[in-house]
Amino acid sequence: MANPFRELFFGGQPATALVEALQPRRTFADVILPPATRRALDNALIQIRKHDLIFGEWGLGERHETGLGLAFNFAGPPGTGKTICAEAVAHALGRRLLLVRYAELESQWAGTTAKNVAAVFRAAAEQEAVLFFDEADAIASRRFASPDQGYQREANAVVNVLLRELEAFPGVVIFATNLAANFDPAFERRIRTHILFEMPGADERARIWEAQIHARRTPLAQDVDFDALGRRWEVSGGDIKNAVLKAAQLAIAEPGPDDEKRIHQRHFETAMEDVVSARRVMEQSLFGEAAADPLTALAGAGARTDVAALEDGVSDLAARVTTVEDEVAGLGGLARLPDAVRRLDAAGDEARRQVDGLLADLQAARDEGRSALAAAEAEWRRRGRPALIVAVAALLLAGAALVAAVVR
Ligand SMILES: Nc1ncnc2c1ncn2[C@@H]1O[C@H](COP(=O)(O)OP(=O)(O)OP(=O)(O)O)[C@@H](O)[C@H]1O
Ligand SMILES: [Mg+2]
Repeated sequence: MANPFRELFFGGQPATALVEALQPRRTFADVILPPATRRALDNALIQIRKHDLIFGEWGLGERHETGLGLAFNFAGPPGTGKTICAEAVAHALGRRLLLVRYAELESQWAGTTAKNVAAVFRAAAEQEAVLFFDEADAIASRRFASPDQGYQREANAVVNVLLRELEAFPGVVIFATNLAANFDPAFERRIRTHILFEMPGADERARIWEAQIHARRTPLAQDVDFDALGRRWEVSGGDIKNAVLKAAQLAIAEPGPDDEKRIHQRHFETAMEDVVSARRVMEQSLFGEAAADPLTALAGAGARTDVAALEDGVSDLAARVTTVEDEVAGLGGLARLPDAVRRLDAAGDEARRQVDGLLADLQAARDEGRSALAAAEAEWRRRGRPALIVAVAALLLAGAALVAAVVR
């Protein structure tokens, strides 16, 4: 018999696991963060550690039955250390990390995603693991206002399940997103803290370069200057990691005996040039010409603000629609819904037909009125003209009589 948990964690084979239970190894000592990010993470850890005190000893858990979990959103550009920090949080708490790769999960679990999301929460609660939704932009994004496609309905259903699970989950959940602005408002409300992962500054970059090599075993040449690399290259930690690996490959590919090989500054420089130009190619193919023109990009940003306001409205509406759907489903009325919708549709058609009829009647009445008016006018002219001639003649006669009287 199929074991749902086995499927959940291992898929067909271990290599395709969409949910991975990790014993975290990396710690905050492995991460170099801008001070603001670091402070926000420290606060998050305090919240987690003091959670039992507040909700247990201080009794708030008895006053509030839901919303007792701790949900965090790590938001920031790619390669700024979100994943590594989720691992470090779990490590600091001495818990396992249950890592869900949501983007893959959605494509592979088409049709059953909502059910599986619920199963993931259950598994995390049982294992007291930190639940980590990596690349969660899709799961956190806005719901569709009028879902008429199957995938839209499924996306809404997944978010609904997620919201419910989040509300009931007693543990720690971390989401990692690149597009914080695209959050579903209902989802956002349930997330206690957003932690912004900023791009590292020059000092941090120098330390990240250094942290990416092995302090004792990586053979570095005398000319290596991490401060200079940190100043020159405004890149993320992920870029630095890639450049370091590439530099090692460049160094090892040079002629000569391996034990004399060293990584030189030029290897790091060339490697980073490669990483940056590879990224530019990616960005260009993603965003096209407009990305190269800052004015166009700015204009786009202005337009996006309006669109964002509009999207807020749509999203609120979507939230209401899904709430109604939920309630209907809860009442067991979902089966009757198509019938009701059909009846509503028919009523709408009938109303539209009636309005069309009324409009036609109105048009006819107006035409009739116009021709009656034209006829009346013609009649008036016909009758009016002889009367005018008589009146003018009388006036002339009166005039003549007056002249004759004066002359006499
Ligand atoms: N602040 C940092 N300090 C040290 N190493 C870093 C830092 N940021 C990134 N790295 C290195 O880059 C790698 C990638 O970082 P990570 O996967 O945590 O980034 P991310 O923010 O999750 O990126 P993505 O949004 O692409 O998932 C890490 O494994 C680490 O080696
Ligand atoms: Mg990541």
